[in-house]
Formats: sequence, C-alpha cells, structure tokens
Amino acid sequence: MTTQENLAIIDVPKGKRAGLEWILGESFEGWYLMHSKRTLRDIELVRAAMSSGKAAGLVMLKTLGEGVGYVYYIAVAKASRKKGIGKRLLEDALRHFKASSVVEVFASVEEDNKPSEALFASERFTRTSFGEVSKRYGGLHALNMYREMLVVPGEILLRKATT
Ligand SMILES: CC(C)(COP(=O)(O)OP(=O)(O)OC[C@H]1O[C@@H](n2cnc3c(N)ncnc32)[C@H](O)[C@@H]1OP(=O)(O)O)[C@@H](O)C(=O)NCCC(=O)NCCS
Repeated sequence: MTTQENLAIIDVPKGKRAGLEWILGESFEGWYLMHSKRTLRDIELVRAAMSSGKAAGLVMLKTLGEGVGYVYYIAVAKASRKKGIGKRLLEDALRHFKASSVVEVFASVEEDNKPSEALFASERFTRTSFGEVSKRYGGLHALNMYREMLVVPGEILLRKATT
C-alpha cells in the first residue's frame, strides 16, 4: 500500500460537484449510481481527496439530528484504490463530525461489499441494528433516522462513537 502523503482533503461547494461525478460512475451502478449523483448535488457537505490537483475520491456527509452524523457515500477512483485514500477520507469525516459535536456516526454498506466493510472495520465501526437504534432513540425517531439514511434490505448498518 502506498501512503498518500501529498493528499489534500477539501470541501467541494455545490457549484463545483459535477466534476466529481465520474468517480461515482466508476463506483456505483443502477439505483445507487442514480441516487449517489442526486445526493452529490444536494447534500450539505462533500469532501474530496485531491492528489496532484486531481480528485481521487470523495465522501458525502450529513448531520441527521443533534449529535448524529451519517456517511452517505464514500468512493475512490478505481486507479487510486487500496492506497489508503478511503481511510484518509473517513478519518477526515470523523474529525469533521467530532468538531461539530457529533457523538456517533452511522454508515450503511451492502452486505457483500468487502472493500467497504473492510474500510469501515479499519476505523472500528461495528454492526448495529434497528432494535439497538430504537432502544437508544425511541422507535419513532429511529424510524425517521432509518428513512433519512435510506437503509434498504441487503444492507447492514454500522456505527461508531466519536468520543
Ligand atoms: C470502499 C472504497 C471507498 C475503499 O477505498 P480505498 O481507498 O480503496 O480504501 P483504503 O485503501 O483506504 O483501505 C481501507 C481499508 O480497507 C481495506 N480494503 C480496501 N479495499 C479492499 C479490498 N478490495 N478487499 C479487502 N480489503 C480492502 C484496506 O486493506 C484497508 O484496511 P487496513 O487499514 O486494515 O489495512 C473503494 O473500494 C470504493 O470506492 N468502492 C466503490 C464504492 C463503494 O462501494 N463505497 C462504499 C459504500 S458507500
């Protein structure tokens, strides 16, 4: 694995996000591709990993409610994978959430998506469930969170405390 020493992670404002769509095209298909492109346009925060001035990966972040953060999509360009860029983007996202007083961060991944599971496991995200989220936030609140997170059958929900 090559260490990405010259990597800069920057905010990408709404007007400049179209230039990142090609990374989504390399990373997702079907419904996920369509939804990820829509999310890229609309979501509150997009951070991009820039290597020698060129985008190599991105992460889309949202605060779901007081103290709760959600990693919507994280994607790295095919040619730049397995070099630690996804990990750098996730670490940056966790730093951002922590600085915004977020106490726990969720992410959902497809059950058979090994690279994604490995990435989140490497940052010590662990599996959780609707039952656990309900216990913590109450059934109605948990239902609304699940709706916002768009957790669909075949996906697992992961969480990590930032403290
Ligand atoms: C998931 C993804 C973002 C990972 O990005 P990446 O830059 O290749 O990941 P990193 O190089 O930072 O690796 C992070 C960890 O995951 C592991 N990993 C990455 N790819 C892996 C693979 N194909 N198989 C097994 N482990 C893998 C690495 O070994 C590393 O673990 P370690 O820190 O314990 O050594 C990238 O594969 C991707 O864009 N996939 C398509 C989009 C997607 O599925 N996104 C996730 C759902 S939103």
